[in-house]
Amino acid sequence: MSDARRTAHLVDLDNRRPELSQRLFETLGEMQAVQPVAWSDASGGFWALLKHADIVAASSDWEAFTVTEGIMIPPTGKSMPVIPAELDPPRHGGFRKLVLPHFTPRALSPWHEDIRRIVADGLKPIVDQGRGDVVTDFARPVPVLIICLVLGIDSDWNRIHDLGEEFMAAFADTAHPERGKAAAHRLEAFLGEEIAARRGEPVTDLLGLFVNAEVDGAPITDTEALGLVQLLVVAGHGTTVDAIGTMVHRLIVEQGLRDRLVADRALVPRMIDECLRLHAPVWNMARTVRNPTQVRGVDLLPGEKVMLAFGAGNHDPEKFADPFTFDLDRAGLSQHLTFGSGRHRCLGEGLARLEMQTVLDVLLDELSPLELDGDVVWGGHTNSHGLRSLPVRLVPDHG
Ligand code: HEM
Repeated sequence: MSDARRTAHLVDLDNRRPELSQRLFETLGEMQAVQPVAWSDASGGFWALLKHADIVAASSDWEAFTVTEGIMIPPTGKSMPVIPAELDPPRHGGFRKLVLPHFTPRALSPWHEDIRRIVADGLKPIVDQGRGDVVTDFARPVPVLIICLVLGIDSDWNRIHDLGEEFMAAFADTAHPERGKAAAHRLEAFLGEEIAARRGEPVTDLLGLFVNAEVDGAPITDTEALGLVQLLVVAGHGTTVDAIGTMVHRLIVEQGLRDRLVADRALVPRMIDECLRLHAPVWNMARTVRNPTQVRGVDLLPGEKVMLAFGAGNHDPEKFADPFTFDLDRAGLSQHLTFGSGRHRCLGEGLARLEMQTVLDVLLDELSPLELDGDVVWGGHTNSHGLRSLPVRLVPDHG
């Protein structure tokens, strides 16, 4: 238990620093080259796994790395476990079995038309005015509207959008954990009403199905239902906004890309994956060492926090040649870690991909090309990264 064990791997990585988002992936890449298993003294201290292979291995080793002590660095002020993200086996498996079948591409196909309508309506102000901000005017409400649609929450999406925003903003404010707690309570109160309205009632929507389901032969408790629904609402919110923003940005700035996609629409899934690889909206998640283990010969001891730096793994030159270059033709481009890896891999991946695909479809089918109309603004907080502003205008007189 020596400090030497840590100081030999010391890096200056404090994920609470706002300025980190300006050169996030470059900074992580530089650290990865010198300290693939890095120690940071920030936030009470943590190990950062920066190599693709190490992140994949740790993600599948739940006996050495537990999620039950929290999955954020620094810890959040929330009042109950996030389900299923903070459950280890065997409980974790039962919840995945319940949720996953409803988020496969096939299960989501009945929503295609509605999702296209939400996206097209969302873009209308930019079309009408000929300019606007892709992030703030268009992308922000889209994922909330869509998850509410899929779950069956149609009462007041505006309120849930504001509560979700407040919740995420409060988490970003790590200096005031009480703010995060208060925001979590407000979101919980709203979702609690939605759950209570469905408890014991005939199932009419997906939320009702979850609330009245059994996991491992026992009914879901109110706390579990709340933890699950809260994660479904919040996990796809800022993440998908960030994914849409950076994808549209790439479509604009990459020479010849739009024409190539128009000529060959089969490239769209590759476009989505390469954008996700280069700009992971969730660039890290945390684990806690449960049993002593080693990574690349470094001892990791029980109780120590571990950051799985997905965004660094996506830029690992041993996995992706020339990792900072956008390359639609690269081999293995879907093996990025943007949706995590192993048993906690994102449950909403199918929905996020569908939203991104729909945005591209509408942009390519219905809009003239876009061009930048001012400076873009990058931002993020402890584990998120994306554009905070993407001002655009429609290219005039496009034939
Ligand atoms: C581009 C958008 C998204 C990104 C980048 C993303 C990223 C991630 C990542 C990295 C994880 C793994 C966490 C870990 O290993 O600790 C995760 C888990 C999860 N995500 Fe997403 N996510 C996105 C969209 C969504 C959406 C739309 C939903 C809701 C429908 C969702 C629901 C979840 C859930 C429930 C988990 C927990 C899975 C488990 O613990 O078994 N995500 N996500």
